[in-house]
Order: sequence, then structure tokens, then C-alpha cells
Amino acid sequence: MSKIKLIDHSLVKHSLSVLRDKTTKTEMFRRHTATVSQIIIVEVLKDIATKEITVETPLGNSKGHKVQEKIVVVPVLRAGLSMLFSTRDFLPWASVGFIGLERDENTAIAREYYQKLPQNIKNKYVLILDPMLATGGSLVDTITAVKQKQPKNISAVCIVGAPEGIERLKKNHPDVDLYIAAIDSHLDENKFIVPGLGDFGDRYFGT
Ligand code: PRP
Ligand code: URA
Repeated sequence: MSKIKLIDHSLVKHSLSVLRDKTTKTEMFRRHTATVSQIIIVEVLKDIATKEITVETPLGNSKGHKVQEKIVVVPVLRAGLSMLFSTRDFLPWASVGFIGLERDENTAIAREYYQKLPQNIKNKYVLILDPMLATGGSLVDTITAVKQKQPKNISAVCIVGAPEGIERLKKNHPDVDLYIAAIDSHLDENKFIVPGLGDFGDRYFGT
């Protein structure tokens, strides 16, 4: 069964409220997306595997730690790119793969238009980044594509989700954990999250 980890942090709540506000302009939208993404990523990586090392300080030897987990980050284009920039700050060595998906405006069914994943994902820990989890179609399809490369583990990292999308994730990929900042009420007739924040990609990229 997927573990759903709701990120409970005052700074996330503050920044998310700025993202939800329809009067927020692109510059502030980007700034607060970075804050939310950074805090979520810190939470995702809290217990990541490390190995013990010895560090020579100016005054002697100290026990130290080095991250051992091999991580692959997969932002779902376009909107997932907004979370990649923050993830890169913590994991500058991680490989990055891309999946491009776009929902049809009428049917809300996602169509894949691009895929470039690293050659060797086997036995690595994959973080899929996508700020919005609405019907769940984009996330479920992304996970299905990534699983074909046989990773050790997959976590999904989102900002706002709807119950419909979470149910779909649980049903299709019960082995994938979800880290998310907010679970909203429902989807509207156009499959947009209510209350949500509107079209994330358009607001982030200023389109
Ligand atoms: C948005 C969002 C997710 C998807 C969520 O992308 O970034 O990928 O919709 O909806 P779903 O759960 O119903 O699949 P969109 O298709 O609008 O493309 P964009 O990122 O290029 O704006
Ligand atoms: N994609 C978005 O950007 N927003 C929604 O509410 C649903 C899908």
C-alpha cells in the first residue's frame, strides 16, 4: 500500500497560500515554489541511506557520513521542472531523466511527447517530480514508464493533489510512496483541482 506522507510545515503552508492566491505574479510564484519544493525534498531525503566515513578536521579525525543511495530525479515536463531546480541544490550529483506529458484540454487524458531516461536506473532510487496530481493519469503513466527500467524504489513528489489522483496512484502503483504538501477537496468538471491553484505550468512559466 502506498505510504502518503503529508508535509506538515509552517513555511510550506505559508508558501502554498501564496501559490494559491490568484493575484500572485510569476516572480513570487517561482520563489514560493522553490521554498515548498526544497522543504518537501528535505523531508523525502530525511532518512536516505548513508555510509560512515572518517573526516580529517583541522584538529583531528571525526566520524562523518556520505550519502550512499544512487538517486535519479525525473521531473514530468513541463511543470515538474519547477521542482528540479530546488532538488538540484541538494543532489547536484543525481542523474536526471525527463518525461514529457501533456493533458488534452478536453479529455484531461495525458499524452506522452518526450522521454529520455538515464541508461542505468536499475537498483537506483527514483524521485518523480510533478507539482500537480489531479486525475493521476500523468503520474501513473510516468511510474509505469520508469518501472520498465527496474529501479530499486520510486517515490512521487507533488505539491497539491486531489483524492481522485491519490486513489488512482494507490490502485495502480501500491508500492510507490507519495510525498505531498496538500490534499484538496475534489476535481471540477474540467479535471482541475479545487480549490487548487489553477494551471501550475502556465503560472510558473508565465504562459
Ligand atoms: C499538469 C501537471 C501534471 C498533470 C496532472 O500538466 O503538471 O503533469 O497536469 O494532471 P493529471 O493528474 O490529471 O494527469 P499539464 O498536462 O497541464 O502540462 P504542463 O506541465 O506542460 O503544463
Ligand atoms: N494541472 C494543473 O496544473 N492544475 C490542475 O488543477 C490540474 C492539472
